Amino acid sequence: MYIAILGRQPNLSLAELERLYGSEATQPFGNHAALITTDQLDIQTLGGTVKAGRIVGEFTGTWPDISRKLVSYYLQLWRGHTGKITLGLSGYGHVATAAQLQKTGLVLKQKLRQRGTSLRLIPNKEAALSSAVSHHNKLGLSEHKVELLIVRHGATTIIAESTGAQNITDLAARDQQRPRRDARVGMLPPKLAQIIINLTAGQRAPQPEPAPWLLDPFCGTGVLLQEAALLGYNIQGTDIEPRMVAYSQENLDWLFAKKRLTREVALAVGDATTFTWNQPIDLVACETYLGQPFSAIPSEQKRKAVQKTCNTIISNFLKNLHPQLQPGTTLCIAIPAWRRSFTDHVPYFYQLPLVHHLQELGYEQLALQHADTTRLMYARDNQVVARQLLLLRPQR
Ligand SMILES: C[S@@+](CC[C@H](N)C(=O)[O-])C[C@H]1O[C@@H](n2cnc3c(N)ncnc32)[C@H](O)[C@@H]1O
Repeated sequence: MYIAILGRQPNLSLAELERLYGSEATQPFGNHAALITTDQLDIQTLGGTVKAGRIVGEFTGTWPDISRKLVSYYLQLWRGHTGKITLGLSGYGHVATAAQLQKTGLVLKQKLRQRGTSLRLIPNKEAALSSAVSHHNKLGLSEHKVELLIVRHGATTIIAESTGAQNITDLAARDQQRPRRDARVGMLPPKLAQIIINLTAGQRAPQPEPAPWLLDPFCGTGVLLQEAALLGYNIQGTDIEPRMVAYSQENLDWLFAKKRLTREVALAVGDATTFTWNQPIDLVACETYLGQPFSAIPSEQKRKAVQKTCNTIISNFLKNLHPQLQPGTTLCIAIPAWRRSFTDHVPYFYQLPLVHHLQELGYEQLALQHADTTRLMYARDNQVVARQLLLLRPQR
């Protein structure tokens, strides 16, 4: 059994896990973690999980009790160990303060030293080490580099040994080192691309042979296609702008050479409201047209004009796509939604009208048990234009 520490948009992270592992195998644990019943969980394929670990214990009781048990367990396990052990302690759900966790680590370090074992303790600035610190120290990636994820919810505290944090170096390289980027079409973060693909894919792993074909009809510079190729899909991408299709090609060539990937790729210039794509279309995942970017809240008139344009393009795309899909094909599409104000206590977003007319367009929205699929919003705190993820299936 694993515990997953959810990213900054927990509803999205939970939805991704539930789609991949199923509702029964996914149990939310407080607001920032989920328990996953599985014997394998590869964090590098998950966009919404920042750390994951194999559960080694479950406790009730106060922190001093738990701390004593931890020290005694690892003292027993590591006594006589030759070579240095690196240890990080990360507390979630207000299980203990950074100082309390540090103290536990120091007690263990001292007791181990008396028994001839050397321990390097990663200092805690906060109760939880950042995923950057965990990643750079390679915590969870070998037997001698251990991070304990200590997560409290209600009266229960779970302890897990991390199996790794998100590889932020590789994610950043995929995002920033690719030859072609374009601020005007937006910068889809690779992590969000992974979430979109996993939401569409659901419980497909392990990948059947031949690999399924994933379609992105608004491929832009190809972030989503890159992530899909890395996750094992053959990819079909189209965009109305020839320049974007050329950018996708260049970026994919770069990625395939760097990662020594071989996948089938089909790219073409095409208007998503009229284009006929190659078959098979096994999955559809895309970031659609988001309208013009805004750095400040636009006037109502301006917002309504952009909303109308986006609504027309995306509705026509969905209508065009519908007869080209096999029954049961799933789609996850990111569409725009606009923040009402930066002073709202709970952010409110104006959605596209089509969200309320999906049935008329021939689609049903998939529901999940643990995550609200009508509110799969991704927006940084300073962003006006949010991406709303729609998880759809054609109705027959
Ligand atoms: C938000 S961007 C997608 C960016 C993309 N995720 C990336 O990795 O760069 C939307 C893309 O939709 C394209 N687009 C706009 N209207 C379109 C249409 N009717 N058919 C196909 N593509 C369209 C734009 O050229 C743009 O590249």
